[in-house]
Amino acid sequence: MQDHFLNMELKLVEGTDASKFAHIYLFTKDSVPTTLTQEGIKKQIEDTDKTQLYIDWSSPQSIYILIKGEEPEDYRQAGAQLFQSLKKNRFENSVLHETSGASEAQLISFLEGLLLGSYRFTKYLKKQDTYKGNLFLHKALLQEKSIKELQTLMQGVSLTKTLVNEPPNVMNAISFSEKAKEAGRTFGFEVTVLDKTAITEHKMGGLLGVNLGSETPPTFTIFEYKPDNATNKKPLVLVGKGVMFDTGGYSLKTGGVMSTMKSDMAGGAAVLGTISAIAGNKLPYHVIGLVPATDNKISSNALVVDDVITMMDGTTVEVQNTDAEGRLVLADALAYAKKYDPELVIDIATLTGAAAAITGSFGSAVLGNAQEEIEKLKATGEKVYERLVQLPLWKEYRDLLKSEIADLKNIGGPTGGVSTAAMFLKHFTDYPWMHIDIAGPSFLKDAKGYKQAGATAVPVRLLYEFIKERAKN
Ligand code: BES
Ligand code: ZN
Ligand code: ZN
Repeated sequence: MQDHFLNMELKLVEGTDASKFAHIYLFTKDSVPTTLTQEGIKKQIEDTDKTQLYIDWSSPQSIYILIKGEEPEDYRQAGAQLFQSLKKNRFENSVLHETSGASEAQLISFLEGLLLGSYRFTKYLKKQDTYKGNLFLHKALLQEKSIKELQTLMQGVSLTKTLVNEPPNVMNAISFSEKAKEAGRTFGFEVTVLDKTAITEHKMGGLLGVNLGSETPPTFTIFEYKPDNATNKKPLVLVGKGVMFDTGGYSLKTGGVMSTMKSDMAGGAAVLGTISAIAGNKLPYHVIGLVPATDNKISSNALVVDDVITMMDGTTVEVQNTDAEGRLVLADALAYAKKYDPELVIDIATLTGAAAAITGSFGSAVLGNAQEEIEKLKATGEKVYERLVQLPLWKEYRDLLKSEIADLKNIGGPTGGVSTAAMFLKHFTDYPWMHIDIAGPSFLKDAKGYKQAGATAVPVRLLYEFIKERAKN
């Protein structure tokens, strides 16, 4: 199965036969190319506050791109706009050869936007769009290792998008674990899959409980990337929600909200994509990934409300809503993470509609007990533009999870849903921990900029950058 679906390739070259290429020039308002002389265009450039693209059709053709600001995101958006124009105009070969003072980091952001924007999930279309572009870059412009790093990161991002975009009749707990093994071989990390027997031996009552209504057995996939030159002593653990499809169970999702619930494994797919990028780029950091995977479906065996289940760590949970299943599967993975004596655990989950109601598709919610780490993650989020808003974990939320007959119930009250969900997870941790609720940004209805309709792979770029920074220290 092809995962990447990137329709643009970067080629670092010594020199180019310029006559065959479309020429691309980046510029800012302070550095308008002298070749853009027409009065009309000059006036437009003065008046606009947007990124603009001007094509000069005389031969060889030139594409001028006015970048509206200095932020990395301005460069990413410009890259995405370039891809759209190259594709629309069927420019197959182009060369970026003038950058008007952009730094290497700004150029990388530009190329990142171009590559992110070039992804299309076309596997199931009978009529394929055949456009594929090549962008040639002169060696003097960028270091080869920066390009390679970006390309590998983009492979991780595309892998995540593809796993999420795959329909649920293709991507289930078993096929996910197989894709994970394949990625382990490609990028260079260890993959161990616990099957239903092993999961039962571990008494993972949350994962098994959610799986009761399904004919497909659960899997618990463990990734480990442990390079000899790791700069950390204790591992960093990433935990991803792997609900392959969320019908809600007997607390059925009705009124159309079940659509898009194939994306309920976006957290798990992001963990796989992140570790793929880290291993592919050989970052000197010891990272472990855990993905408990199952779908949440209905049969006569399925969980019903009022059931009491016993989790891996012995905690009993009264199920009061079978649609609050993510926390049940994550709880076992968080309990399992204790055995690694981790320096930090980050879980990533499409956990609550309440988070999506707060952030919309523009960012994720973050909560946790490791405040310094949260600050760092938020700062990285601004940089890569996978932004975070922190929500509280006040002790009072704990009271809302009290059950008459078990240690916890799996829902809180009608309000504060992001925090009560996180408070439930916190119960299963005894280490520095952060929880990222990606329900808002993980899957989009409409394409925008470098994001396609469908999966976005949030927060793969964020986690990659966060771990890359840590690896330096
Ligand atoms: N997978 C959903 C959360 C979700 C909703 C993700 C919309 C993406 C978009 C989760 O399992 C769920 O159903 N949560 C419930 C929790 C509630 C029953 C406490 C919710 O948010 O309604
Ligand atoms: Zn649910
Ligand atoms: Zn769910």
